[in-house]
Amino acid sequence: MKIYRLTIIAGLLIFALSDFSAAQKFENLALTPPMGWNSWNNFGCQVDEKLIRETADALVASGMKDAGYSYVVIDDCWHGARDAQGFIQPDKEHFPSGMKALGDYIHSKGLKFGIYSDVGAKTCGGKPGSRGYEYQDALVYASWGVDYLKYDWCNSEGLNPIGAYTTRDALYKTGRPIVFSICEWGDNKPWEWAKPIGHLWRTTGDITDCWDCEENHGSWSSWGIMRILDKQKGLRIHARPGHWNDPDMMEVGNSGLTINESRAHFSLWAMLAAPLIAGNDVRRMTRETQAILTNREVIAVDQDALGIQGFPALTEDGLEVWVKPLANDNWAVCFLNRSAQAKTINFDWKDNFIKDDSFQKQLDAKKTVYKVRDLWAKKDLGDTNAALKTVVQSHDVVMLKLTK
Ligand code: GLA
Repeated sequence: MKIYRLTIIAGLLIFALSDFSAAQKFENLALTPPMGWNSWNNFGCQVDEKLIRETADALVASGMKDAGYSYVVIDDCWHGARDAQGFIQPDKEHFPSGMKALGDYIHSKGLKFGIYSDVGAKTCGGKPGSRGYEYQDALVYASWGVDYLKYDWCNSEGLNPIGAYTTRDALYKTGRPIVFSICEWGDNKPWEWAKPIGHLWRTTGDITDCWDCEENHGSWSSWGIMRILDKQKGLRIHARPGHWNDPDMMEVGNSGLTINESRAHFSLWAMLAAPLIAGNDVRRMTRETQAILTNREVIAVDQDALGIQGFPALTEDGLEVWVKPLANDNWAVCFLNRSAQAKTINFDWKDNFIKDDSFQKQLDAKKTVYKVRDLWAKKDLGDTNAALKTVVQSHDVVMLKLTK
């Protein structure tokens, strides 16, 4: 324990003597949207080391790790108090082995370790935040082997967001590559200033596990899947490899959504090139939830190297046609049925010329014949010379990949 403290104090001294002007964010850490798991959506403040270890085990056993999920992020409430020298301690009752041991366990499974703090003096859950301790906390996280920091915006009254999130510098100075997840709820339009600061930024307030509701908590609201989706309008030009719009962690598999709704939610997050951070209990998920979260063809749409966020190209009577340009001039196309009834569609590709002016892409089936594959049925459906005839269930999607 003494040696560990001395190392950190020595580190702080080196900090004090080093050149801060060169600070920047770690590049190349998020060339595709980060994937992983976070405790908050399902467990809230009920976090402990047993849950985190079991979750790491389940990510491996369920095939999620192999499908690309790598960050295991402990959200709010892992904290104990600061000690006399200001070093943050984990809650000893729930994390008796300490964070270094937990990080080592996560790494031993081939996964990465994520943690949570806040720009204010207190987190949203009332635990110690990082205000005034930014460099000290960054060094402690690095000494625990942290690879990802989610940084919240509670108790930030009077703070300048750009200055507050320049905690990036503290992370950079540790020398340990740490993904920086800005959780500022879109309040100050982070898409306009956070590209050189973070790897992802929340675009909205909190998600909740309902299809299309607003949950009013008094001074703030949380939002259902469709509400969050609608708040992404106009933001796609800001997402690119290295920095992503974050429409919040997923509710796939949580109790407020039907299986169709979970499938639609997952598909749309892939269309948005959103970070895919699972928020369910992966130790006890159903086979259907597991199949959704590990659908590699849908994940490949999210993780496409071009890194262009999709958009709704056509909307008609509760049916939306989302498109996402992919590498090699391929496209993902997702028919979303928001209505309460199943919809029969007869979609003539040649009558529906789609243009993406922001990224100079065109889906023109009169000029190019694309092969069509259904990513949920896992079936080839011929090509775009034939109209697509299918049924989209209520609150569900049909998701396709078009290949040149
Ligand atoms: C805020 C964030 C959530 C979660 C909680 C934790 O509401 O937006 O994602 O981190 O705080 O208290």
